[in-house]
Amino acid sequence: MKLSGAFLENMGKRHSVIVGMTRSGKTFFTKHVLQQLQDQNYHTIFFDPKHDDDYASLGTICNTPLQFYHQLLKKNPAIVYRPSPKKEDRVNELNRITEFLFTMSNKDGFKRIKRVVAIDEIQLMVKKGTNDGVETIWTVGAGIGVVGIAITQRIQLLNETCWSQSENKIIFKTDDRPEYLKTRNLDHYIDKREFFLDTDNKYWFYYTTGNGKWRIREPISTASTSNTISKPTTTKTRKGNPKPISSLKTVEHFGLKRWDI
Ligand SMILES: Nc1ncnc2c1ncn2[C@@H]1O[C@H](COP(=O)(O)OP(=O)(O)O)[C@@H](O)[C@H]1O
Ligand SMILES: [Mg+2]
Repeated sequence: MKLSGAFLENMGKRHSVIVGMTRSGKTFFTKHVLQQLQDQNYHTIFFDPKHDDDYASLGTICNTPLQFYHQLLKKNPAIVYRPSPKKEDRVNELNRITEFLFTMSNKDGFKRIKRVVAIDEIQLMVKKGTNDGVETIWTVGAGIGVVGIAITQRIQLLNETCWSQSENKIIFKTDDRPEYLKTRNLDHYIDKREFFLDTDNKYWFYYTTGNGKWRIREPISTASTSNTISKPTTTKTRKGNPKPISSLKTVEHFGLKRWDI
């Protein structure tokens, strides 16, 4: 399914955060975004501490910073970086590849390349308040053509800089506490969490592209021919009995409209 040009442009120009519990659809969504950015001539890097084979198709796999640097020199537009399983090493490797990206952005012949770096399970690399490669991308990256996508399981796990410097915020189901959500100005999300936690609403997400508007979006579809999803007319409980209409946690139940991106 194609994401809209406007949405992709936002993802390519400004930093993003993607939050959601395990198996809520974060990496699947990221894969679609990166593939479509590749189609628009962005160079993408998928930093994958999980070494997930489902996402190996996102580019040439690199296991060391030097292999990565070599691919940058070759202007390879699609790279997957698989860091060491050791925490200390993976943090250092992320810092090294960030340095290489910044070095490249100053080199003649490389300056015009627009790059998007998606870091999966970013909590494995970044502790709150540390000043490292991630901090650098989110503070000065956009100005030199390096845009970040930070992916993690809870809003609480994101460092302040990533959150505040990301215009695009995409939230799948989360279990962040209401008190915590308030500290991130997400009061409006608190009563909608129930909707996303409902198993009938798997892979739905809540998002903004930074204009102050938040929207609920149905799952992106894998079908290439259509971007509309037919809603089932009846919804079953786990036991197979139809739910009473009044208890359906549909978008309309929350007085919201559905939007396409
Ligand atoms: N929109 C979607 N439509 C169909 N399947 C999806 C969708 N989003 C995710 N999935 C599937 O659900 C599983 C979990 O998704 P994933 O993105 O890996 O979760 P996360 O990264 O949040 O842990 C994967 O098998 C993925 O293929
Ligand atoms: Mg994932």
